Amino acid sequence: MGFHQLLAEGESVPLEGFDFSWFAERASEERPPWGYASLLARRAGEVGTMCDLETGGGEVLAWSLGEAGHRPETVAATEGHAPNAAVAGRRLAPLGVGLVRAADGDLPFKGDAFELVSSRHPVEVAWEEVARVLRPGGRFLSQMVGAASNRELYEFLMGPQQPGDARSPERAVAEARRCGLEVVDLRQATLEVRFYDVGAVVHFLSKVPWTVPGFTVEGYLDRLAELHDHIARNGRFVSHSTRFLLEATK
Ligand SMILES: C[S@@+](CC[C@H](N)C(=O)[O-])C[C@H]1O[C@@H](n2cnc3c(N)ncnc32)[C@H](O)[C@@H]1O
Repeated sequence: MGFHQLLAEGESVPLEGFDFSWFAERASEERPPWGYASLLARRAGEVGTMCDLETGGGEVLAWSLGEAGHRPETVAATEGHAPNAAVAGRRLAPLGVGLVRAADGDLPFKGDAFELVSSRHPVEVAWEEVARVLRPGGRFLSQMVGAASNRELYEFLMGPQQPGDARSPERAVAEARRCGLEVVDLRQATLEVRFYDVGAVVHFLSKVPWTVPGFTVEGYLDRLAELHDHIARNGRFVSHSTRFLLEATK
């Protein structure tokens, strides 16, 4: 497939949900060694009430509930992005999960409501709210995107960027403590990401739009052409994502 065909294909893939199976053979990303979904299944099996924040299409929550030996009596989930909420609603309603269309910020739950609050790759954690809705002794389990994730990719497109600490594990730990949570586990991983064609890069940047804010094919046409040439010469474009696992108790 030629450059413009790959761009058009990358732009035409539907964006809702967080099922990444479209990328098979065209891009790959190593998995963190701790196995978040299995860990969530184990934690879910230990509680009677839980809430998954920013559940996306509900894919991970649904899988984890299926694996949990014992299903919590009350399971809630939040999703604020309408296309994802529609996907999550279809997936989670048959499992008895109450989906709330909440955007970032205030959580529409009473205090001390949940024994477990989980969130994978939250865009933003409302730490005070997490602490408020957790029952004393309750647990927050989250896998987060770390600082400078996919730096090679976004710097290839945007040029050198100042590293910020907004997504650093140190900042997350400080926020958790500020809100009265005790951090009981923190693990970090750097994972290899490979893109085998520029269409996969276009789809990735459209699906995860905060990697290159304001990304459009037209706006980055020259850089995408460079990237296409790079892949033609090297067989792939390699980048590295960063992830950390944080567990905290109230
Ligand atoms: C990165 S997603 C993670 C979803 C899920 N927890 C998972 O791990 O698959 C986190 C949040 O990003 C938001 N989001 C996803 N796509 C978006 C888009 N195109 N524009 C704005 N927000 C988006 C959604 O609200 C979603 O809950």
